[in-house]
Amino acid sequence: MINIRQDISLSELNTFGIKAMASNYVEIHDSTQFTELITDPIYLSNNHLVLGGGSNILLTKDFEGLVIRNCISGIDTIKENNSHVWLQVGAGVLWHDFVMHCVDQKWGGIENLSLIPGTVGAAPMQNIGAYGVEVKDVFISLEAIHKTTGILQSFDKATCEFGYRESIFKNKVKDKFIITSVTFRLTKHKHELNTSYGAIQETLDASDIGNPTIKDVSHAVIKIRKIKLPDPKEIGNAGSFFKNPSVYKINYESLQIDFPKIPGYNLPNEMVKIPAGWLIEQCGWKGKTIGNIGVHKNQALVLVNYGDGNGNDLKKLALEIQQSVVDKFGIKLNPEVNFVPS
Ligand code: FAD
Ligand code: EPU
Repeated sequence: MINIRQDISLSELNTFGIKAMASNYVEIHDSTQFTELITDPIYLSNNHLVLGGGSNILLTKDFEGLVIRNCISGIDTIKENNSHVWLQVGAGVLWHDFVMHCVDQKWGGIENLSLIPGTVGAAPMQNIGAYGVEVKDVFISLEAIHKTTGILQSFDKATCEFGYRESIFKNKVKDKFIITSVTFRLTKHKHELNTSYGAIQETLDASDIGNPTIKDVSHAVIKIRKIKLPDPKEIGNAGSFFKNPSVYKINYESLQIDFPKIPGYNLPNEMVKIPAGWLIEQCGWKGKTIGNIGVHKNQALVLVNYGDGNGNDLKKLALEIQQSVVDKFGIKLNPEVNFVPS
């Protein structure tokens, strides 16, 4: 039986800690409950927000509609051979709990994605990534229910059209599906550890770890993330607010004339990725506080809510930041965070 409730506070259900209400709210614990949900009059007459951990959304006002919180659990081994294990994971499982489960089992592939907040079901939405690994690297397929027909559909990797913080679910089929489970393939032996990105190697060296295990890499990533990023339990935030932009190499070279220190990382196809945090810091935003909100003092890409901040004020701040980067560098930053309503 589903239980749709009215006038529910979302403040504990979004990592920005924005105080907003949902006029209707339901928790779904298994995919069969969707069959019941999609014929319910409240479902049929309202807008929907599918909610995982609320760590990549900005609520700009109360949600007049139905919030569907995905709580589907379960981590099942569906196939195994000498080298790999295939795991089907419920969309409501917390991503970091899943990573810890795999690290404990000595299954490799997602240790660099330790400590990313949110749920497994949301991970393919923006192809979560960190420290040189993206979810697409271990992704096999997902199951999702079409929000109108209720039909359960399978999406393989090619169909998901993964890109940097992108997938088909943010584009062509935006708001059309509810992801119910995701299947991953991880290594059992001969792990390809990725320690070259960011400060991982440095952190391992500092602890005299010469031949790291999956657990060592996971610990190193957790250590770095705890230093670099604010804990949403202490300061409301949604991680990087904007995506890192990429520009044509020729444009990057002309920016270097005016800004010789501008960092850039070469991508294929003559493109260069520029860290948005650097651009925002150069515009003078780092550490700025405006009332209850601001830009984090150690990471200019992270907007923060110090307590009683308002989602609309955060949106305005984001737009001001975006404009200042356009004015100074001619580069338009695209938000990574999903505005609700969009
Ligand atoms: P939510 O915020 O609940 O939802 C995000 C979007 O996905 C919404 O549009 C929602 O409608 C949709 N959605 C959620 N679940 C489903 C579902 N089952 N079916 C259909 N649609 C769904 N991201 C990174 O990529 N790398 C990082 O390193 C990283 N670091 C972070 C650090 C911090 C401190 C924070 C707060 C966030 C960070 N993020 C990072 C962003 C965030 O953790 C990820 O985007 C995460 O996948 C969001 O999961 P969620 O369950 O909280 O999604
Ligand atoms: N920088 C500054 N000033 C700042 C912040 C950053 O100059 O205030 C510059 C520095 O040059 C630094 C560079 O930006 O070397 C990169 O910064 P950082 O290593 O902190 O990474 P990021 O590009 O800001 C990205 C992801 C993170 C992910 C980390 C590690 C995006 C939008 N963000 O951050 O993902 O955890 O790399 O891989 O791609 C998220 O998506 O929410 C997120 C936190």
